[in-house]
Amino acid sequence: MNTNILWHQANVTRQMREQRNGHKSFVLWFTGLSGSGKSTLAHSVEEALFLRSCRTYVLDGDNVRHGLCADLGFSDADRTENIRRVGEVSKLIVDVGCIALVAFISPFRSGRDSVRASMGAGDFIEVFCQAPLGVCEQRDVKGLYSKARRGEISEFTGISSPYEAPGTPEIIVMTGEYSVGECTRQIIRYLEQNDKIALSD
Ligand code: ADX
Repeated sequence: MNTNILWHQANVTRQMREQRNGHKSFVLWFTGLSGSGKSTLAHSVEEALFLRSCRTYVLDGDNVRHGLCADLGFSDADRTENIRRVGEVSKLIVDVGCIALVAFISPFRSGRDSVRASMGAGDFIEVFCQAPLGVCEQRDVKGLYSKARRGEISEFTGISSPYEAPGTPEIIVMTGEYSVGECTRQIIRYLEQNDKIALSD
């Protein structure tokens, strides 16, 4: 870090923005295999929060890779950099006083744990979208698993690149067994019970 660059303290703080927004800010970090339902669930939870007047934003792997991370591929080093950048963006969203819903495979425990460690206690809520590889492969929504099996895509998570499941995530959603609606309700319940959002009437 360049020692000539100093941190400028803002006059308007995160706490002031949270107060104006009427809710706490935090990150819901969805991790899981491709096809495990991360993006679908993140958008569904966002809608539920939005209907409760929360300020939200979804960061999605496929979308972010079109812009901010368009220069990155799928090597271990590029995935690590991908997650580092997205971690930084999520921190900004939290500082803005909003709720970031982040849906990336984020296959490496160390990458997820570094993002967690860079945030305040309780700001990082890890949501493990647990669906067996067989189920994700059978769904194969984008046709990428069959390409990976044919060797047309290299370093594909679950086939030719590892996925390290979280040890102690805050939430485990069994996306292979339960519907999007059921998993959404489970996450909203967690947020209510842990005083992240207000109880609904
Ligand atoms: S991550 O590993 O760096 O977190 P990210 O979530 O951004 O991955 O992108 C994953 C998406 O990119 C997948 O949902 C899939 O659509 C697409 N993709 C293309 N190539 C690969 C690959 N080799 N491994 C995994 N996903 C890939």
